[in-house]
Amino acid sequence: MSLSQRIYSLREIALRELESTASDRALEDWRVRYLARKGELAAVIGELGSVPGEEKKDAGRAANTVKAELQAAFEEAQQRLRATAPDEERVDVSLPGIPPMVGGLHITRQTLYDIEQIFATMGFTVFETREVETDEYNFQLLNLSPDHPARDMQDTFYISDTLLLRTHTSPGQIRAMRQYCPEPLRVILPGKCHRYEATSARAETMFYQVEGLAIGHGITLASLKGLFKAFANKFFGEGREVRFRGSYFPFTEPSVEVDITCYCMGKGCTLCKCTGWLEISGGGMVHPVVLENGGYDPDDVTGFAFGMGVERPALNRHDIDDIRRFYSNDLRFLQQFA
Ligand code: PHE
Repeated sequence: MSLSQRIYSLREIALRELESTASDRALEDWRVRYLARKGELAAVIGELGSVPGEEKKDAGRAANTVKAELQAAFEEAQQRLRATAPDEERVDVSLPGIPPMVGGLHITRQTLYDIEQIFATMGFTVFETREVETDEYNFQLLNLSPDHPARDMQDTFYISDTLLLRTHTSPGQIRAMRQYCPEPLRVILPGKCHRYEATSARAETMFYQVEGLAIGHGITLASLKGLFKAFANKFFGEGREVRFRGSYFPFTEPSVEVDITCYCMGKGCTLCKCTGWLEISGGGMVHPVVLENGGYDPDDVTGFAFGMGVERPALNRHDIDDIRRFYSNDLRFLQQFA
């Protein structure tokens, strides 16, 4: 076979092989094999010096043509690959980067942290207890016997005859007392509560409460009022007034509802229904029976307790119209507070 014939047959082999290259990597291998300085074409061209005149001329011409053809075929293959590459393999280095999604604290969690911070500065420890409670802790030890009519105030999700989802954070009072007794104590108990009720713009079946409990010598209802005044001024802003209204809870005696002056500062608005006051918590002096159930001697110590909502203050603070937005997982809503 003459040298030019060998060059043409090399071209056939190379082109056939090129047709089946399907990746950048394979294409580059092909280029190194045939077109590079130490490639097969270069090797044949190197033999030109050792062939006689006429044949040398033919082979030289063949070498030039084939080299140009292979080079063109290579470039074409390169373009074909680029055009068919899946999108994710195409790189545009001038594109701006994709910023990673950054998480954020849920609005309820932020509010809880704020509340916890304020009570921490007043010497309260955070005490977390269980969300699935027994009927005994959620009701009976809090002075609510099985047939007590006040059970109707809190419709309950029962898990079994004795287990339930806690309807308030108050069962934690007994757990904290039993852990600390006979020491004086000052704790807040934040957590989720559940009530089997119809939802509305102001009520959800799941919500958070922060319970507060202080037990020791010389604790009075005035202590609770002073505490709320300090809290309200830190959480809602300076100049807030606090008032107590008589109320009823089986586990406190006397019992109160705690109101603070509304944002409208008495001018009257839709939030306070033109009363000038917002209800923020229930509370009272711990009932002697409850103190006893927790292990304390009601003739020796007294205590106050309160239980406040978390979503409502957040709702009021941010002017949100519907509590159901909190847990319906709409990122457009949640991201406003992240
Ligand atoms: N547990 C009561 C409720 O959920 C609130 C409360 C707590 C009242 C502590 C008094 C003392 O409505």
